[in-house]
Amino acid sequence: MMVNMTSTLPFGVYVHWPFCLSKCPYCDFNSHVRHGAIDEARFVRAFERELAATAERIGARTVSSIFFGGGTPSLMQPESVQAILDAIAKHWTVAPDVEVTLEANPTSVEATRFRGYHSAGINRVSLGVQALDDAALKELGRLHSVQEALDAVAVAREIFQRYSFDLIYARPRQTLDAWAAELKRAISEAAEHLSLYQLTIEHDTPFAALHAAGKLKVPDDDLARHLYDLTQAIGADADLPAYEISNHARPGAECRHNMIYWRGHEYAGIGPGAHGRLNLDGRRVATETEKRPESWLMRVEATGSGLTVDEKLTPGETADEYLLMGLRLAEGIDPQRFSALAGRAIDPDRVSFLREQGTVEMTADGRLRVTQSGFPLLDAVVADLAA
Ligand SMILES: C[S@@+](CC[C@H](N)C(=O)[O-])C[C@H]1O[C@@H](n2cnc3c(N)ncnc32)[C@H](O)[C@@H]1O
Ligand code: SF4
Repeated sequence: MMVNMTSTLPFGVYVHWPFCLSKCPYCDFNSHVRHGAIDEARFVRAFERELAATAERIGARTVSSIFFGGGTPSLMQPESVQAILDAIAKHWTVAPDVEVTLEANPTSVEATRFRGYHSAGINRVSLGVQALDDAALKELGRLHSVQEALDAVAVAREIFQRYSFDLIYARPRQTLDAWAAELKRAISEAAEHLSLYQLTIEHDTPFAALHAAGKLKVPDDDLARHLYDLTQAIGADADLPAYEISNHARPGAECRHNMIYWRGHEYAGIGPGAHGRLNLDGRRVATETEKRPESWLMRVEATGSGLTVDEKLTPGETADEYLLMGLRLAEGIDPQRFSALAGRAIDPDRVSFLREQGTVEMTADGRLRVTQSGFPLLDAVVADLAA
């Protein structure tokens, strides 16, 4: 049967695998290290139950993307990934061109599972390379070397039509020249997509403690700004322009799953600490599940769902989220959609003020977007425009 994609709004399923082999000192994602064995089959049964409960609640959908994120989902057995994909296909229609991404850490052990993931239905991998500098990898607490990461990229290239990898820049002591060389080398290994994140010192991480004690010096605002500008210029020169503040792709090769978040479409969040946004009875509903893996497991086993937050958003909140997420994109937002969501237009005086400052602009087709020079000030721009 042909599926008419034009009449179907995107719908994504996010699956969170919360375990890692070790905790990187900069990371505040919901990731946990367990020294004993993890009962993976039991977790998979809980994922299946939570999927069933979500499907029962929201009814029919056509799934356009699935994303296994973490944590480290590349620690999962391919059979577990297969079982979860089967459960998704049991409850919903899966679009023929569905994008199915798995986040992988680039160690040799994990690369041995890539073929199994491909057979299970994964068609895109996103590898956490983080740096092409062994000393930096060590400082970031990574368990892989540059060579091991590049070998994993090569395996990914052989098996998957689509792959991406992540780098973190604005690292301690990083100079403009060093980053330019590293980024160009990365681009020579990249295919269609790269995620380039500026190092953020997150609260309550070992990096935050070191930073507060003056033992971890990161680039100051000026250098960080130059590093950002350099990243934009090198990416654009290599035909990998930024389509989102930290994501670069060849036109057409954007991560469709993440576009669902940034364009304000609908997604289900499955697994410990997963967030979702559902459209139910004309309202936008925000969901969140229990973050601690074992508590999530017990909750799902007892009630069928790990939900801890299940909240109808107000029109103002829905519109603000659209603004907050949409302005991260180079394409910006549709002001009419904002008005329809908020029940009022974006304040024209604020838009004029920001346009005069050069931080936002209107496109020829009437969209509002942040300018290249406005992107480093994105938080302030959003705060100014929010409902
Ligand atoms: C869910 S995380 C990790 C995926 C995978 N476990 C890994 O580490 O390779 C996704 C990405 O966020 C980025 N990231 C995590 N913490 C960060 C931070 N504090 N600053 C900048 N980027 C960060 C990393 O590039 C990472 O690959
Ligand atoms: S960066 Fe990745 S591997 Fe490191 S702790 Fe976070 S989720 Fe785990």
